[in-house]
Amino acid sequence: MMKTLLGGMSPRQFLEEYWQKKPLLVRQAVPGFTGVVSRDELFDLACDADVESRYVRYLPDTPGSEWVLERGPQTRGRLRGKRQPWTVLVQGLNLWSPAGDALLHQFDFIPQARLDDLMVSYAVDGGGVGPHFDNYDVFLLQGIGKRRWQIADQEDRSLVEDAPLRILKNFQPAHDWVLEPGDMLYLPPHWAHNGTAIGECTTYSIGFRSPTAQELGAEFLGWMQERICLDGLYADPDLTLQENSAEIGPKMIDQIENMLSAIRWSRKDVTEFIGEYLTEPKAHVFFDPPEKPLSRKRFETAVNRHGYALDARTLLLWSETGFYLNGEPVEFDPADHPALADLAHRRKLERGQTLSASFLDLLHQWHEDGFAHPSSDHD
Ligand code: SIN
Ligand code: CO
Repeated sequence: MMKTLLGGMSPRQFLEEYWQKKPLLVRQAVPGFTGVVSRDELFDLACDADVESRYVRYLPDTPGSEWVLERGPQTRGRLRGKRQPWTVLVQGLNLWSPAGDALLHQFDFIPQARLDDLMVSYAVDGGGVGPHFDNYDVFLLQGIGKRRWQIADQEDRSLVEDAPLRILKNFQPAHDWVLEPGDMLYLPPHWAHNGTAIGECTTYSIGFRSPTAQELGAEFLGWMQERICLDGLYADPDLTLQENSAEIGPKMIDQIENMLSAIRWSRKDVTEFIGEYLTEPKAHVFFDPPEKPLSRKRFETAVNRHGYALDARTLLLWSETGFYLNGEPVEFDPADHPALADLAHRRKLERGQTLSASFLDLLHQWHEDGFAHPSSDHD
């Protein structure tokens, strides 16, 4: 991590005093930063059907429908508009750009399990998504140009009705800053904010995931469905004559309630579920296995010479029950645990490292699957 990223503060102090508690403005968090993609690359991504993007226009002269939202893929025409302020937002930049992935991982003083994605927005003068609040933490890093950020810790979270995006009805800014390239603003969840471009600008949002209890519960039950193994069969040798044959009688319900109460889960189940759930690729993510994967022997030479890196789309996390890669548990030799944990943390291996044969077998498998690659000369 760069020393300047938190303005010289240690990650420990940041976690104690700011994380999920209060905003932090860091001037020159990334000195010299002007973004990880050019405007043209950003527009290409916005026009790509595989990339999640949003286009937001503000029309001050149409009361009641000032905000217009168009989901991607965008068209070139939209991205040329000059008359009204607009902005285009591209989600998951880390999936498409290794430099974006590297930027995201500057923030791994927060567990990777909490990281969501890197979003980039481009706006023309006056453009923005309006005053709103988010349910998750975000670091807003200024790329090119300037953006004015107004923020508030307000209780009133009522939203404009019928707007296509979440706009606060009564935004009362308490702080007001203009961010320049490399400046960064951290916001905890639920802080109201409004970012307005001053001239054309780009903003990079490092976003975190905070699943709701409802979402976790529903996903966990889906996962458990394939795991449960219940004994027994409905039986009623003591059946007595029922007055109304259409009634589902209380004895039947008692017995079924009893059968279902055998559904149990352990901490191990929860740990395995969460490893698979948190590494599950998003719906639009696909891997490109190499057409001609290197043979095991040539692979070993390549890794030894150049090193190895996880694909930007790959998620690799671990816990007390083992390692999870892109939604699946990993089978590995226990002796390789430290090497795997190091790869998961740093997402790459240097060249010339001594690696066991079993570890190399695993790395080779991931190369064949397109989950990771030997580094090239340019990395
Ligand atoms: C933006 O980059 O314009 C929006 C970021 C945000 O408000 O969360
Ligand atoms: Co926001």
